Amino acid sequence: MTSSTGESVATRYAADGVATEEPVVRLEDVHKSFGDNLVLNGIDLTVATGEVLVVIGPSGSGKSTLLRCVNLLEPIQRGRIFFEGEEITKKGVNLPALRQRIGIVFQQFNLFPQLKAIDNVTLAARRIRKMPRAQAERRGLELLRSVGLEEKARQHPHQLSGGQQQRVAIARALMMEPHVMLFDEVTSALDPELVGEVLIVMRDLARSGMTMLVVTHEMQFAREVGDRLVFMDEGRIVEEGHPADVLDRPREERTRRFLSRSLQLAHSLEELSITDEVIKEEGGVE
Ligand SMILES: Nc1ncnc2c1ncn2[C@@H]1O[C@H](COP(=O)(O)OP(=O)(O)O)[C@@H](O)[C@H]1O
Ligand SMILES: [Mg+2]
Repeated sequence: MTSSTGESVATRYAADGVATEEPVVRLEDVHKSFGDNLVLNGIDLTVATGEVLVVIGPSGSGKSTLLRCVNLLEPIQRGRIFFEGEEITKKGVNLPALRQRIGIVFQQFNLFPQLKAIDNVTLAARRIRKMPRAQAERRGLELLRSVGLEEKARQHPHQLSGGQQQRVAIARALMMEPHVMLFDEVTSALDPELVGEVLIVMRDLARSGMTMLVVTHEMQFAREVGDRLVFMDEGRIVEEGHPADVLDRPREERTRRFLSRSLQLAHSLEELSITDEVIKEEGGVE
């Protein structure tokens, strides 16, 4: 996979002359409320260059809000957020320039239905970065190839499966050459058989060295691709560590409860799909 993350602008030199890399993203005591609803309650978090940080937690725990704050889609009430060493929550930040450096992919793909895949991928680069069409198309095709969709470049979204549309959305985000990619439950709206193809693209992106902040329910992905795992509940980070440690040996009771509920759900879903198959095989329900 080709990813041009470019040179970090934030490599600083410590007093002894050793290069110390700033984290790509750093949150310091971040508080976010919607009205009276305190949604992020003092979040401290860093994502290092090339790191894949996975965030898990129950619905409503503030995971999406966290990503939206990092991308400055939401203002925060207290604390600070840094991107490559520079505070981005202070006044006067160049938002469009910053957003180009922070790619985000949502559960809903939000492709333009009237545009072909290649045009969805290249639109922002042509409009915002004024990239010439031929150059944008070359790069767009490269990116579509990297997500396994070069032959679908001329198709419209409705001619693509959900998994393919989500891969187009990932290629579109990569087109702006982000230094970090945020993923918000990007496989949650997909049919189960389409989840794998999207996770493989994300895994390959991680292997190519992309810095990633990934909110997901896919525990297998968290375990295999994540460098670090954070469990959030009620706007706080309850526990963090190496994915296998947190998943297999959670220290906190709340983490244990959440994981055992997820596991139970996975089992009962498996049973459901077995029942489905049995019913189909027996020709019971059409
Ligand atoms: N735009 C918004 N306006 C008001 N409340 C919001 C908004 N976005 C999220 N919330 C609230 O913030 C809390 C956390 O939501 P969210 O970050 O979406 O959690 P998660 O992604 O973990 O499910 C929820 O109580 C939700 O209702
Ligand atoms: Mg969410």
